[in-house]
Amino acid sequence: RSNELWGGRFARGPAEIMERINASIGFDRRLWSQDIAGSQAHARMLAAQGIIPAADADAIVAGLEQVAAEIREGRFTFSTALEDIHMNVEARLKELIGEPAGRLHTARSRNDQVATDFKLWVRDALDRLDGDLRALQAALIDRAEEYAGTVMPGFTHLQTAQPVTFGHHLLAYVEMLGRDRGRVRDARVRLNECPLGSAALAGTPYPIDRAMTAAALGFDRPTANSLDAVSDRDFALEYLSAGAICGVHLSRLAEEIVLWCTSQFRFIRLTDAFTTGSSIMPQKRNPDAAELVRGKAGRVIGSLNALLVMMKGLPLAYSKDMQEDKEPVFEAEETLSLCLAAMTGMVRDLTADPAAMRRAVEAGFPTATDLADWLVRRLGMPFREAHHVTGRIVKAAEERGCGLSDLPLEALQAVEPRITADIFPVLSVEASVASRTSPGGTAPDLVRRAAQAARERFL
Ligand code: ARG
Repeated sequence: RSNELWGGRFARGPAEIMERINASIGFDRRLWSQDIAGSQAHARMLAAQGIIPAADADAIVAGLEQVAAEIREGRFTFSTALEDIHMNVEARLKELIGEPAGRLHTARSRNDQVATDFKLWVRDALDRLDGDLRALQAALIDRAEEYAGTVMPGFTHLQTAQPVTFGHHLLAYVEMLGRDRGRVRDARVRLNECPLGSAALAGTPYPIDRAMTAAALGFDRPTANSLDAVSDRDFALEYLSAGAICGVHLSRLAEEIVLWCTSQFRFIRLTDAFTTGSSIMPQKRNPDAAELVRGKAGRVIGSLNALLVMMKGLPLAYSKDMQEDKEPVFEAEETLSLCLAAMTGMVRDLTADPAAMRRAVEAGFPTATDLADWLVRRLGMPFREAHHVTGRIVKAAEERGCGLSDLPLEALQAVEPRITADIFPVLSVEASVASRTSPGGTAPDLVRRAAQAARERFL
């Protein structure tokens, strides 16, 4: 049996394997509500322009409403022979309303139809991503406020560098996620032009009103070039790029959570709700959710790569390769929403162990820079020289197996005779963080204000 929709020039149906490789209904059925909204807007416009009778448009709109209800309620039978969501919906419409259904595809092609559907879907996905990112920011800001004064080691090279506060560390991620949201917003603005009416590739001779369908579907305007409109998938690439970068941010935080949960660090603890045990080692509490967020970020990067590589060699306009655009996007969307929800859950679940953070921060001479700064400010020493002197003091502390502030004054003076006892206050980690008052710095008061400002900027 040849195809109902283009059977005219075909004597027989496709090979079974042809049907299988060709069909996208297995995944593009997710576009059903966008497809129906697009078709309703199109039918109304056709009638308003006198291209089809108003009664037919009414029948089409009402019939599509019925199709929507069937799909929503799980009563719809999707058919692989009908290839994709567009033909599945149209074929069912024909069963329901008969002849007027045949007028729906006037002045339209599946090429502008699928581009429109997919843009509508990605637009919703961008909005969901923005909301999920916002929820994670809210969790991080809450916790940052709570831990604004909790001192922990800040690292470079994963070696203790200078003391920072846990709140400051958490707010670093709020900034990253804020830029992720900025990318989402930018992508949405660029995406929001309507391809409908570009038809197969060249436009159409019918007197259509593209502004009307664009407005009905919430687009800012119609696309300017019909060839571009049916060939463009950079809106999906932008979604995936923003998603991949976000995935990298989530993965870095996940990695830190994994690290912080180790018995070597013990900076934080996750409750039973966000850990798993081992089937053999009874002592274990594994941060699986964090590991999975870290692992799954790779998938989003993979989706971006898949779509980039798929698009890069395609001549204008539509090629069937482009049917492969959807699965990576759907997959990335599921992964991102799962990972963001899990991360939000973990951030709300974790408790810090300030004592463990303190033990760790004291171990690595984290206030060596503060000591050097004291030499500069009090003795007028050039910083390079102060660095040198401090290095010798650190060496002395290392030899005695103590921290900088535990060194007797004589030991300090043995290295630099001009050092006086009022150096000691700057050697505490509290004094160190409190002194970091330059804008964007880690001083607890600043962190409290930064959390408040982040609330106003982002939530
Ligand atoms: N299922 C197709 C896709 O997802 C719809 C467009 C088909 N167009 C075509 N000329 N065969 O891309």
